Amino acid sequence: MRSIIDILDLSTDELSELIATAEDIIAHPDRYSEVCHGKKLATLFFEPSTRTRLSFEAAMYELGGNVIGFSEAQSSSAAKGESVSDTVKTVSCYADIIAMRHPKEGAPLVASRAASVPIINAGDGGHNHPTQTLADLLTIYREKGTFENLTVGVCGDLKFGRTVHSLINAMSRYSGLKMVLISPEELKVPSYVKKDVLVKKGIPYIQTTDLTEVMPELDVLYMTRVQRERFFNEEDYLRLKDSYILTPDKLTNAKKDMIIMHPLPRVNEISVAIDDDPRACYFKQVLNGKYMRMALIMKLLKEAGTI
Ligand code: CP
Repeated sequence: MRSIIDILDLSTDELSELIATAEDIIAHPDRYSEVCHGKKLATLFFEPSTRTRLSFEAAMYELGGNVIGFSEAQSSSAAKGESVSDTVKTVSCYADIIAMRHPKEGAPLVASRAASVPIINAGDGGHNHPTQTLADLLTIYREKGTFENLTVGVCGDLKFGRTVHSLINAMSRYSGLKMVLISPEELKVPSYVKKDVLVKKGIPYIQTTDLTEVMPELDVLYMTRVQRERFFNEEDYLRLKDSYILTPDKLTNAKKDMIIMHPLPRVNEISVAIDDDPRACYFKQVLNGKYMRMALIMKLLKEAGTI
């Protein structure tokens, strides 16, 4: 049974196929409105979410399917001590596919070994968030027309920001990539991402604390929130939370066609004054995420022989 735990579980050919399907859904939504008729998606969210859970649910409804699930651990039997494995063995009896978010890194992988239906990782701790990356890739492709020869700046909490780890992994497979890693010293990209991806693949990268100095180089600026829920103490969070606040004056030296991305939710990282800038793409990412999740649900259910 195939699950998607990491963005690298999908080849670049499969990413292109998912993007093509998403584009077709956007152009012809009626063709997909009954594809998952009679099928059920379970959303098991042990951690808060707005976009990921609701876009998975909207995706399944728009495919003609149904949705069951829970949106917090406290309303499930996890609160009574049930393991992740027992939870997904149980839910496999009710649903055809499961999207799971969990605060512990690796929980969706454990789930995939116990489940008898496909598991999709909807975010595991500070580790990975592959379906956010699907949203990000469709956005980059629609806005830039290519994944090649791009200079991508990721800015903010690169230590705990799981969307960044998945994005770096995904983009590392396209030629001509240059990465610019912008963060406070304490929130640098984990060494396993740097060594196993950037160094191993010979991808040019720079690390800096200064967003302004690198701004003119960037084709993509990917802002992230400082992940309060992953900090061990509030004092450190308060000291670091406003390290980067993107305001219109800071874009003076940016390329006219640079795109500004953010997985959301935002706190202070991007001023609302930027929302009307044609380069702001973060709400496009939200919508693109639904189409890519539709494409992924269909792909996994087809491969499982369920539809
Ligand atoms: N981008 C993202 O994962 O948002 P949510 O936490 O609202 O799902």
